[in-house]
Amino acid sequence: MPVIVKVLGFSLGLTLVFTLIANLLPQIEGEAPVDKIIDPSAFTEESFVALGEELFQGKGTCTLCHNNMGRAPDILTMDMVTTTTERLSDSRYQGKAADAESYLWESMLQPGIYVVKGFGKKGTNDTDSPMPAVDKAPIQLSKLEINAIIAFLQAKDGNTVTVALPTEKKEATPVITQPVAESTPVAQVAESQIAETAEIALVKFTCTVCHSVLETESPVGPDLRTVANRLSVEEIRQSIVEPNAVIADGFPPIMPLDFAEKMKVKELDMIVQFLAKEANIDL
Ligand code: HEC
Ligand code: HEC
Repeated sequence: MPVIVKVLGFSLGLTLVFTLIANLLPQIEGEAPVDKIIDPSAFTEESFVALGEELFQGKGTCTLCHNNMGRAPDILTMDMVTTTTERLSDSRYQGKAADAESYLWESMLQPGIYVVKGFGKKGTNDTDSPMPAVDKAPIQLSKLEINAIIAFLQAKDGNTVTVALPTEKKEATPVITQPVAESTPVAQVAESQIAETAEIALVKFTCTVCHSVLETESPVGPDLRTVANRLSVEEIRQSIVEPNAVIADGFPPIMPLDFAEKMKVKELDMIVQFLAKEANIDL
């Protein structure tokens, strides 16, 4: 075979390989957890409602408590527009809401203003709510995200969506549903991303929503900053992978049961070691 043909064949081959790589690259990148920036002016009512549903199940962590386990009102099975009418006519209602949109907004940002009967923080006789304000850590939703959830809660039962769709780019901060891990330990981490530190893992698996640990306070489950004073390393591990084996005194059995499936061994080990170390600190 003349040399020129061999060279041609070789470079053709190379070109083919490069084309292939070039075609593969965008897909590989697409799978990596990247910030999902949404252009606020591009929303339709449908896509805004869909974003709200995604946030309700995902980043908002609403379904951790709002489910059929009885720890919080099962919002998904309730028509929140008719519910609002009942709440606002309750003589215990002290808030400023006048309609479903403002009631839902208030419920999410100032949960303590009105506490649904029977769901208050333990020992407060329904004067304080165990629900965290959703615009603060650890949930930290933006205004746009909160509005999307309200749109979803209105639309899911066929009610008119009253929240205005975001229009001007400047008024809304970009929605980042999957911030990358590097930002801060308190950032939300994509499920597909393996947590690199115990702090990130505690946030990724929503432990901070129900437990006081790291910088956040939550009365839903026992305080994890002092857990090592109560439990051995093995017991801490069991509490996470098999939460219902032993139920902590005075708390409802509502801890998610699927951590064993969801966590990588490394993530579980990091969390267990981190919590066991808190033993040395006497709070
Ligand atoms: C840590 C548990 C917890 C999380 C997480 C949580 N909530 Fe709640 N929420 C509650 C509890 C408990 C109540 C009832 C007590 C009260 O009225 O504040 C409640 C009340 C509400 C109410 C009023 C319900 C009614 O029947 O009037 C709304 C609306 C609501 N939550 C929305 C949300 C949304 C949306 C999210 C997610 C962005 C969320 N919550 C996350 C625990 C939680
Ligand atoms: C939906 C709320 C919720 C979430 C999310 C949650 N927990 Fe819990 N957890 C609880 C409750 C309530 C209890 C007490 C009842 C029980 O023992 O199951 C508990 C108990 C525990 C205990 C035993 C504490 C003791 O003093 O006996 C440990 C340890 C623990 N959780 C760790 C974690 C870790 C780590 C995560 C994240 C991977 C997590 N939890 C996520 C609600 C939650």
